[in-house]
Amino acid sequence: MKVIVTGGTGYIGSHTIVDLQQNGFDVVCIDNLSRSKEYALEGIEAITGKRPTFHYIDLCNKEATLDVIAAHQDAVGIIHFAALKSVPESVEKPLLYYHNNIDSLLNILYAVKKFNLPNFVFSSSCSVYGNADELPVTEHTPLQPAESPYAHTKQIGEDIIRNFANTNSSQHILLRYFNPIGAHPSAMIGEIPIDRPNNLVPYITQTAIGKQKQLTVFGRDYETRDGSCIRDYIHVCDIAHAHTLALKFLLRKGNQHPVEVFNLGTGNGVSVIEVIESFERVSGRKLNYTFGERRSGDVVAIYADNVKAEVHLGWRCQYSLDDALLSAWKWEQQMQELKL
Ligand code: WQD
Repeated sequence: MKVIVTGGTGYIGSHTIVDLQQNGFDVVCIDNLSRSKEYALEGIEAITGKRPTFHYIDLCNKEATLDVIAAHQDAVGIIHFAALKSVPESVEKPLLYYHNNIDSLLNILYAVKKFNLPNFVFSSSCSVYGNADELPVTEHTPLQPAESPYAHTKQIGEDIIRNFANTNSSQHILLRYFNPIGAHPSAMIGEIPIDRPNNLVPYITQTAIGKQKQLTVFGRDYETRDGSCIRDYIHVCDIAHAHTLALKFLLRKGNQHPVEVFNLGTGNGVSVIEVIESFERVSGRKLNYTFGERRSGDVVAIYADNVKAEVHLGWRCQYSLDDALLSAWKWEQQMQELKL
């Protein structure tokens, strides 16, 4: 069975293609390489022996999007990752984020409708919860105002899909990722930051390898057990496998509603300082870090209630925080070897 993956040369997209291929799917990858490298296709092939069909397309171009989907209208579904995802960049360039993330989604949905694609999986985010007033968050936790334009594009995207689903026969799943970290155990694929990373874990590994001088912890005066922010860090391979299970769930018509939402988190809240201590333990490296001011747009704490995905998708996290951080460290060293 054929599945279309947009943003497939990106971090979560490339790991998901590996999982889909290892579960028997034939994958078509669409990407404009604006925030990723074509190397990801080589890495995927090195792991699975299969290079996905690749189309170099900007999904903000409606005509090009319809043409490429027309060529694959026999697909059983689309998994839509393609989007910009930097919280601080979205604060700096909101129009870029609204244009890119929403126009590309609209074009994909036009194609879903025009070619009667049956299933659609959307890359959403825990950032849609904003500063949740209950923890852990469940899929029914009321959404607070988005803390960034990035998060707002994901809230808008979810609403567009809900309204679209009322007018179309396709079935939809929204996957709300918590904090994806780590890399495939083979160290053949992983996150390739385009410039200085905004996210914690790539900044840690770049500091440890010497690409960055020092990590700054953005605030240690929060109302948490050690004063630093709490997040739910989850191995990217656990996130990837959830996409395969979500597609199979739709294929077996397991959904009761035309739009189903699932949290993809471990259920454990971990602080920034605890991540640093875990990294030092698994890598054997002492990390050079200091404490600085809070970062605007940060929520104090968020972590998932992931029971719904466990019960309905049969999904279980296979990796621990230590596994994820060690795999991130191995990948950082491999990127140096591969000169990525
Ligand atoms: C985590 C914590 C920072 C860098 C991410 C993605 C977003 C979404 C949710 C998928 C915060 C602190 C960071 C640094 C630090 N994922 N930090 N020093 O902001 O939770 O959002 O997950 O959709 O797309 O960006 O992740 O890794 O940026 O920050 O202290 O140099 O680490 O303040 O508390 P965030 P992050």
